[in-house]
Amino acid sequence: MKRVLVTGAGGYIGTVLTPMLLDSGYRVRAVDRFFFGRDLLAADEGLEVVVEDCRKLTASHFEGVDAVIDLAAISNDPSSEFFEHATYQINHEARVRCARLARAAGAERYVLPSSCSIYGFQQGDVVADENTPPKPLTHYARANAMAERDILPLAAADFCVVALRQATVFGLSPRMRFDLAINGMTYGAWSTGRLPLMRDGSQWRPMLHVRDAARAQIFALEAASAAVNGQTFNVGSGDNTYQIGPLGDLVAENVPRNVEVAWYGEPDHRSYRVAFGKIEALGFRVKWNAIDGVAEICEALARGAVEKTAKTITLDWYRQLAHWHGVIREVELHGGILDI
Ligand SMILES: NC(=O)c1ccc[n+]([C@@H]2O[C@H](COP(=O)([O-])OP(=O)(O)OC[C@H]3O[C@@H](n4cnc5c(N)ncnc54)[C@H](O)[C@@H]3O)[C@@H](O)[C@H]2O)c1
Repeated sequence: MKRVLVTGAGGYIGTVLTPMLLDSGYRVRAVDRFFFGRDLLAADEGLEVVVEDCRKLTASHFEGVDAVIDLAAISNDPSSEFFEHATYQINHEARVRCARLARAAGAERYVLPSSCSIYGFQQGDVVADENTPPKPLTHYARANAMAERDILPLAAADFCVVALRQATVFGLSPRMRFDLAINGMTYGAWSTGRLPLMRDGSQWRPMLHVRDAARAQIFALEAASAAVNGQTFNVGSGDNTYQIGPLGDLVAENVPRNVEVAWYGEPDHRSYRVAFGKIEALGFRVKWNAIDGVAEICEALARGAVEKTAKTITLDWYRQLAHWHGVIREVELHGGILDI
């Protein structure tokens, strides 16, 4: 039975991926600081939980590890703009270190979950494939590009390295995120009947269901090394590539109440489309679309299984943690506040 070390296992993708790996017969060493809570992974005899910062991993964490899926990251543009230094430390430096430690420990494979955002916003009708030069425009995208640049060359005959450039993810997860496009639109429409959409709606965005994102990581784990080693793959599908206006209409039609679209902002001409033929040629196909995601989120909201809190908006939660860390440091003495 193979052991996979998953960093960021307590996150939006990680809490979906971990049970999927366990169901597929893998053992999982879940490494995370668990910023979003320690109760999101169900106990399992194949699961080992390690509470650690990925910047502090040592050789011992990789003992007996066959493969690594390195999800831990500051996971969106706004959080990376706010926590710039930590973003380069975590998303770039710690991942390079993690890949080197994995290789030194004899692991056979390392999967880097990168992002289509490294293409930036391409002009006109360009459909970016893996050979299109990246145009990273944000710290988040730049840190991903730097991680790819420094980790892919570690590929060797006995160390398979695969980078997955994932489209924007959507759908239900134990660590729910309402700061992702489809999830946020669904929440707005479901809770207020008003679906906020940025003008003019013609901009293109590729999307990927969170269970398909997890399936793609497992696909990258299991694909023949000769077919994937040292390579990058866009992950998503043409069918899940939407223009924002029609996507808003689709979300509105699938939320069980009357919904009106509330346009805002100046026309946003930024637009990008991505080609997914390379991973499809290896046999990977997505299974879920936006309608599936909207339906499952509405159902979960209706039965109270999920709600919008600061924890579901990544930047809000990190800012709150940073704020309270400062407050507590100021008033804490002798290891406590009132009880010491
Ligand atoms: N969700 C998307 O749309 C999307 C799209 C493309 C790529 N990605 C990438 O996939 C990965 C996972 O994204 P997600 O949506 O699950 O994000 P997330 O924020 O939900 O999860 C990140 C996890 O990493 C952990 N973490 C952060 N810093 C850490 C540190 N220093 N040490 C240990 N753990 C730490 C957090 O506690 C969290 O559990 C990220 O690398 C992200 O950039 C996500």
